[in-house]
Amino acid sequence: MITLTGKSAIVTGGTKGIGRAVAEALLRAGAQVAISARHEDEVRKVASELAGANEDRARGFTCDVRQPQSVAHFVAEVVKTFGRLDLLINNAGMGIFERVEKLSVDQWNQVIETNLSGVFYCCHEALPHLKKQGGWIINIASLAGKNAFPTAAAYNASKFGLVGFSEALMQEVRYDNIRVSYIMPGSVNTEFSGEQPDASKAWQLQPEDVAQAVLDLLSHNPRSLPSRVEIRPFQPPKK
Ligand SMILES: NC(=O)c1ccc[n+]([C@@H]2O[C@H](COP(=O)([O-])OP(=O)(O)OC[C@H]3O[C@@H](n4cnc5c(N)ncnc54)[C@H](OP(=O)(O)O)[C@@H]3O)[C@@H](O)[C@H]2O)c1
Repeated sequence: MITLTGKSAIVTGGTKGIGRAVAEALLRAGAQVAISARHEDEVRKVASELAGANEDRARGFTCDVRQPQSVAHFVAEVVKTFGRLDLLINNAGMGIFERVEKLSVDQWNQVIETNLSGVFYCCHEALPHLKKQGGWIINIASLAGKNAFPTAAAYNASKFGLVGFSEALMQEVRYDNIRVSYIMPGSVNTEFSGEQPDASKAWQLQPEDVAQAVLDLLSHNPRSLPSRVEIRPFQPPKK
């Protein structure tokens, strides 16, 4: 198993679902981990649970990735707390699924600002710190970043955009010793759809499967860069 002792990581949207599973995996590998999300009570609760189980190596910060100033403050506080930043996992995300005709401007902006602009803000603030010793940015995209479907125009646009952003950034910072990868999961059993995770959806990916993909990326021989990972349920119900 990979060892990340002495490394420091940010996981946005780390209070639930995929983000929490990634934070737990990085902590198990020995990293110091800062999670963030908007709801202060959940941030405090989850950070305390993670810290209690991992020798006080976890911290929580309230941060809305749609707010550039909130992101700047968050990244600065993490670097002040841990003294360095090695890994940025851009996971915070949301979806609103509605036909374009019915989608409000506010709904459109919420999706694009969270899933696309938010990743830009986090990268913009983190890059100067990652450059100091090299590092890794892993963006949680989606198979919706290549497969479009009705009612998903905003979500598709945000994730197709995130794929393009990740590819450009990967080429831009490789000689700064910063790796950029993105993971495109299919259906994952989380609260993303507004429903509680459900045992009847055992066929779906579990958050831990995406966390495993993150660890697998970090374990690669440094001469290679797996930049795009697609991961999907093996046997979804037949249509
Ligand atoms: N579940 C799936 O089927 C699936 C498939 C492919 C890709 N993905 C992607 O995987 C990522 C995680 O999804 P998930 O299924 O784990 O969702 P989830 O269970 O709903 O968790 C989302 C996390 O993001 C945080 N968040 C949402 N908006 C935020 C904002 N503006 N600023 C900061 N934090 C924010 C939430 O906390 P707060 O609400 O407190 O802010 C929460 O911690 C997303 O990018 C999603 O698009 C999910």
